[in-house]
Amino acid sequence: MTPDIGDEFYSGTRYQRGKLPKHNLDWSTKPPVYKEYPDARRIPLSSPDIENGLGLWDVISKRRSKRAYNVQPISQKELSQMLWATQGVSARISGSALRTAPSAGALYPIETYLLINRVIGIDPGLYHYSIEAHELELLKEGDTSKAVRAGALDQQLAETAAVVFIWAAVFQRSKWKYLQRAYRYVFLDAGHIAQNLALAAEALGLGSCQIGALYDDELNNLLDLDGVEESVIYMSSVAHSRR
Ligand SMILES: Cc1cc2nc3c(=O)[nH]c(=O)nc-3n(C[C@H](O)[C@H](O)[C@H](O)COP(=O)(O)O)c2cc1C
Repeated sequence: MTPDIGDEFYSGTRYQRGKLPKHNLDWSTKPPVYKEYPDARRIPLSSPDIENGLGLWDVISKRRSKRAYNVQPISQKELSQMLWATQGVSARISGSALRTAPSAGALYPIETYLLINRVIGIDPGLYHYSIEAHELELLKEGDTSKAVRAGALDQQLAETAAVVFIWAAVFQRSKWKYLQRAYRYVFLDAGHIAQNLALAAEALGLGSCQIGALYDDELNNLLDLDGVEESVIYMSSVAHSRR
């Protein structure tokens, strides 16, 4: 890692009065907000149940990072609920599909991939969440939990979870408007998404833990991401917890 690169980045992307970057938006080059895998096998998900569950204040006060999991699988409905809570479409206003978590400029740079180990009725494998359709797209069938654990700095929770949410940023979606400052917003966006997941998991009686310690290249290789245009930036493990 280059010494002081973070300091340089932070000071170089400050907004200063009278010195905002001059940049005209070119709407013809606005990147799409969805990634699709048209050839993938698709698994439809049930509609989210937004009527039931614990109240918000209970959920906020009870949330803790949980790292020890039992082998009980989670249900497809629970997975659907959590995916919707993280990035589901919750409103359509003037032609824009707005999501459960806020996003700078409504540019939605974060893609969700899933390591599925134990979800009733869904084969283990790596999947991509198709937001608009609220469906899963199968990318790789089979058990890749050891590779995901390795990519999470060998942390056990990334292997033993029922599901690991793996978030990757498509930087150009945000850079199109915010130029280099986009690198601040992309990570803020991911934080909102991850917190929604933590709260949704808690509301469902499941345990979750954020994972920021990761070997970028290993996870990018696993998901066939180039690490420049799109790169894994954050993960969360979810399962029935032992305590
Ligand atoms: C950005 C970020 C990265 C984190 N990375 C990891 C991680 O790699 N492994 C882990 O076990 N916990 C990780 N955590 C969880 C923190 O250790 C945890 O939130 C903290 O100890 C406070 O405990 P609490 O979440 O139970 O309130 C991360 C949390 C955040 C916000």
